[in-house]
Amino acid sequence: MGLVTAKEMLEKALKGKYAVGQFNINNLEWTKSVLQTAQELNAPVILGVSEGAGKYMTGFKTVAAMVKAMIEELKITVPVALHLDHGTYEGCYKCIKAGFSSIMFDGSHFPIEENVAKTTELVHVCNQLGLSLEAEVGAIGGEEDGVIGKGECADPEECKKIADLGVTMLAAGIGNIHGKYPANWPGLSFETLAAVKEKVGEMPLVLHGGTGIPTDQIKKAISLGVAKINVNTECQLAFQEATRKYVEEGKDLVGKGFDPRKLLAPGAQAIKDTVKQKMEIFGCIGKA
Ligand code: 13P
Repeated sequence: MGLVTAKEMLEKALKGKYAVGQFNINNLEWTKSVLQTAQELNAPVILGVSEGAGKYMTGFKTVAAMVKAMIEELKITVPVALHLDHGTYEGCYKCIKAGFSSIMFDGSHFPIEENVAKTTELVHVCNQLGLSLEAEVGAIGGEEDGVIGKGECADPEECKKIADLGVTMLAAGIGNIHGKYPANWPGLSFETLAAVKEKVGEMPLVLHGGTGIPTDQIKKAISLGVAKINVNTECQLAFQEATRKYVEEGKDLVGKGFDPRKLLAPGAQAIKDTVKQKMEIFGCIGKA
């Protein structure tokens, strides 16, 4: 199977009361680890690509070509969506052209009228081309690729405005932030989540900042309509820790331990372990 959009997998998740994981990718090892884990666990998966990661991998065309070829070469049969994460208006068009199957337009930092206008345009384009579209209301806090947000709670009325445009999924800020949560983080605002859910009905909701949210809060968020959860930093930390251990134990100095395929193997395994743990919590194992 080639790439699919996120629409069907999220509709199924919403009905089945589980969430599909979006795991952000940075390079070949990341992509391979996430795809292999999804296949092994028979889980649908969304590969997230930020604009910074896209640039790092030399451009969105390279990313799309790599992911499509890898799905074929690894004989991946579970549903895989290739999704732009926090896209700018220009970035959305670049990814549409490059062959992504799903797009996020992050207009949360614009006044609501401008967010509505740009999202409306992208709804039409994505509908015509058969792509799924994620929109955002209420900036997600923390820093990701230079994009900084305060961790706002979205206005449920504004969420309804954007949901009614016909987007596929909606990211609504509920006090979540990217990166590690500070010790004094008050937790997710379930009050906001419930109010948003009431306004948007059957629209799958997206929870960004999946790193470090306690399991009970994740499960409660899923029970209140979250059908997609994004994880990025946690895979990076797992990769860092495993790679550091390999080098600190001097394994790169023994035999051909310097071979990049050996040097990067523990980190890749750590990503697989992290993806598996998350999928267990999200409840998406066996749902392909
Ligand atoms: P974390 O880096 O906190 O896991 O957030 C990922 C994310 O929301 C990507 O959009």
